[in-house]
Amino acid sequence: MQNNIFSGLFVGQNLVELKQVDSTNTFLKNLLSNSTPVPEGTVIMAEDQFAGRGQRDNTWHAQPGKNLTFSILLNPRFLTAQQQFDLTRAVSLGVYDALHPLLGDSLKIKWPNDIYYADKKFGGMLIENVLQGNQIKHSVIGIGLNVNQEEFHPSATNATSIKKILQRDYDLKNILAEICNCIEAYYLQIKAAKFVQIRELYLHHLYRLNQGRWFKSNGEKFKGVIKNVTNEGLLVVEQDTGEQQYNLKEIEFLND
Ligand code: BTN
Repeated sequence: MQNNIFSGLFVGQNLVELKQVDSTNTFLKNLLSNSTPVPEGTVIMAEDQFAGRGQRDNTWHAQPGKNLTFSILLNPRFLTAQQQFDLTRAVSLGVYDALHPLLGDSLKIKWPNDIYYADKKFGGMLIENVLQGNQIKHSVIGIGLNVNQEEFHPSATNATSIKKILQRDYDLKNILAEICNCIEAYYLQIKAAKFVQIRELYLHHLYRLNQGRWFKSNGEKFKGVIKNVTNEGLLVVEQDTGEQQYNLKEIEFLND
């Protein structure tokens, strides 16, 4: 399908719109396991995703028709398994660039790939890579973004949406197109091996970089300062005892 708001070369050019699905990531992974080829850049979007999956085995809830829940297929065979986090950086920066004109500098990327406005989360990603040998054969990039939802479950104290922030409704397809265009631009940069620039920019937009804050790891609270993210994607936190590196399951951010 050709349409003009998707101005990139391939991301979003094949857009599959579903009324209802369990998870757009699962749907796209199932498509890949059938024999029909799926063009790179295919986007599966769902109006109602009723069993959305999140990181750390969490569930992703989104009110039907009000939010963006979609998955993009990329085939970054030029990346090794050790470079997976560069794709995470590229996708996070794509979402950041698409939303920055709307939301300004309070927009942040919370390590590893949450989208924050000030101290509240309104977007997240679940990137599932299929490896062939040491190369990434397919990457299923699932993105959930709260756009026009106004009410959240009382337990989701940290959740917000673009409408809650800006007090108006937004057209889902326009935001989707902008995200696809911006992700494609960063994807082409990593394809051209511009890793240094991408790593710097990701750090530049990182939530709580260089701030003394409370964290929890192994059941213990401690104060530390985020100093860096390693090439492989580990969070580097400086504390009294020196610098420590953490993976996603090993550290939790606390709100003081
Ligand atoms: C997180 O922050 O935990 C990641 C949430 C990722 C949700 C998106 S919505 C579209 C895609 N399909 C899924 O089942 N999950 C991702």
